[in-house]
Amino acid sequence: MPIDHVLKLYSESVRSPYLHYGFWDDPKSVTAENLSLYDIVAAQDRYIEHLASFIPEDVKTILDVGAGIGGNSSYLLNKGYKVEALSPDEYQEQVFAEKYNGEVKFHRAKFEDFDSEKQYDLVLESESACYIQIQPGWKTARKTICDGGYLLVSDYFLHHNDGSGDWHIKASHNEKMYMEIGEEYGFKLLKEYDQTENTMPTLDSAKAFMERYIYPTVEFSSNYMDKNYSFIMKILKKAFGKRVNEKMKQLSLLDSNEFRKYKRYMIFLFQKVS
Ligand SMILES: C[S@@+](CC[C@H](N)C(=O)[O-])C[C@H]1O[C@@H](n2cnc3c(N)ncnc32)[C@H](O)[C@@H]1O
Repeated sequence: MPIDHVLKLYSESVRSPYLHYGFWDDPKSVTAENLSLYDIVAAQDRYIEHLASFIPEDVKTILDVGAGIGGNSSYLLNKGYKVEALSPDEYQEQVFAEKYNGEVKFHRAKFEDFDSEKQYDLVLESESACYIQIQPGWKTARKTICDGGYLLVSDYFLHHNDGSGDWHIKASHNEKMYMEIGEEYGFKLLKEYDQTENTMPTLDSAKAFMERYIYPTVEFSSNYMDKNYSFIMKILKKAFGKRVNEKMKQLSLLDSNEFRKYKRYMIFLFQKVS
């Protein structure tokens, strides 16, 4: 994979070292429409702090899988862990090279294809498990984690499939299948935590932002083009109309009620036992 441009756009606009949802301790008290970027980044700091509280005491070495642009790796380094990072993304490799000047070894690979020279006490998959194919991912986890070591996963999983083909269904792993295959590869679930409610304010704020700024801008531009350049607009609609409609359907991914209907955002701590 060369560069994931959606993640790159996100990192350059939000200017946060993280690419995850963040964690809100008291989600009921949050008014999504009023959140600032500062609030979102603070929630992202809290996410890794909360997630790291699941790391068992005997862990010293960590492979940060799907490391993004290094926010989690920095946090873990500061906590005294020996950290290496992995991602298939070229842009993220560059960011790591500039940020850490070699202090954090970066492996550019898909986790499924990773052939590690060594084993780690813990593999972290923070919002990257959903990108990694289930069976090959567990197979690599088995080779990459030392005996008695851990896989710490924080990601959303599908709990309900109504066959509608909704985008939420396409963009995540079936939780039951994920757990069953993990067991087949000798991993035992030690702890789980449902953080769905703690993560939803971020989705709500992204939706509010789209409704307030992006949709009106698109509508204004489309009306302006229709009025002043109707011929060009007709051609554009013909050429890209279908694709734009498909993209608009993907925006249902920002609807937290739709999210809850299909998915749960979980933390799972597994141990490699046999
Ligand atoms: C949503 S970002 C999460 C980044 C980071 N872990 C965080 O919490 O901020 C997903 C990450 O998974 C990476 N990724 C995508 N496909 C992958 C794969 N097959 N194996 C490993 N990482 C992958 C992406 O490049 C990106 O770094």
